Amino acid sequence: MDKSIEKIREEFISELNSASTSTQIEQLKIKFLGKKGPIVALMRSLKDCSKEERPKVGQLINSLKEEVATSCHKGFEDLLLREEKVKLESQKIDVTMPGKKSNKGRSHPIRQILNHILSIFKEMGFSIQYSPNIDSEHYNFESLNFEDDHPARDMQDTFYLSKEMLLRTHTSNIQARLMQKEKPPIRVVCPGKAFRNENISARSHVFFHQVEGFYIDENVTFADLISTLNSFFNKFFGQKIKMRFRSSYFPFVEPGLEADIECLVCSTKGCAICKNTGWLEVVGAGMIHPNVLKAGRVDPEKYTGYAWGLGVERLQMLLNNIPDIRMFTENDERFLSQF
Ligand code: DAH
Repeated sequence: MDKSIEKIREEFISELNSASTSTQIEQLKIKFLGKKGPIVALMRSLKDCSKEERPKVGQLINSLKEEVATSCHKGFEDLLLREEKVKLESQKIDVTMPGKKSNKGRSHPIRQILNHILSIFKEMGFSIQYSPNIDSEHYNFESLNFEDDHPARDMQDTFYLSKEMLLRTHTSNIQARLMQKEKPPIRVVCPGKAFRNENISARSHVFFHQVEGFYIDENVTFADLISTLNSFFNKFFGQKIKMRFRSSYFPFVEPGLEADIECLVCSTKGCAICKNTGWLEVVGAGMIHPNVLKAGRVDPEKYTGYAWGLGVERLQMLLNNIPDIRMFTENDERFLSQF
C-alpha cells in the first residue's frame, strides 16, 4: 500500500512539473482528486488493510490528498499570475511614443462660405428654401419671363435631359414655384448648384453654386434692394464696403442691375485682381418683373418685390485670392486643408 501511495505521489509531481498552463493544472486536480481518480481508489481499498495498518495508511492517503490539493492550488495561482503578466506585457503601450497624425475632416470651402452667406441672410430675416436641380423648362425659363424664342435663353447654355426637363441653369428656378406655394410677404434665400454647358476654364465651370434671394411684399422698393445688398456685403466682409450699381438686363427683373464692390486688394486704384478697373462684379439683381409675379400667381398691382442672384465660387475666390475655379472640384488636400 505504501508503495502505491508513493507511486501516485511521484506520478503527480512529475505531471505537475510538466504542466505549463493554469488549465492543465485544473485538469490535473480533477484527474488526481476526482471521483474516478487514484486517491479515491486508494480510500476505497483501505477496507482491505488490516485493522492495525488502517489508521497509518489512512493518514498517508490524507496527507497525499492534501499535498495534491495545495500543490495544485499553488501551481494554479503561480501560472495564472504568469499568464496575466504575459498578457499585460503584450498589451503594454508606450505613452511617450508620438501619436499617429489623423486627418481631421472639415467642410469644403464652398460649404464654409455658403454657411457664412446664409447665416447673414438668416440674421436679416430671410428663410432658407430649396429648389430642384432637375427642373422643367417652365420653372427655369418660362415662368421667369424668358419667352420661347427669346435670345436670352442662349445666355445660359443648358443641359437638357429631355424636351421638357433640364438641369437648372440658375437657382432663380425657385421664384415662381415658391410664389405659387406661399403668400406674400415672402422673404427667402435659395442656395444650390447651377449647371451650364460651358467650356471649363479657370473662370467658368459646368456647375457652380448660387444663392438666389427675393423679397415680395406691399411697397417693396428699389431702395430696399440696394440697402439689403449693401448691408449684406458689409456684414460679409466685416467692414464698410463701397458698392457700385450698373444697369443691366435679365428677363425676370425690371429694372435690372449688376452690382460691383470695391476691389479690396487695391481699394479701387486698379490691380491685376480687378483687371485694373478697381471694381469686382459680385451680384445680379433687380425688381421682379410683373410677368414673373403673375406666373407665381401674385398680384402685381398689389405687390412688388426684388430679387438677386450671387455666385458663391466667385465670392470665395475674391475673399481668398483663389486663381482658378477648378480648384474647388479637384479635391486636392493641399488646397482643401487651407480652409
Ligand atoms: N439668375 C441669374 C444668373 O444666373 C442671376 C440673377 C440676376 C438672379 C438677377 C436674380 C436677378 O434674381 O434679379 O445669371
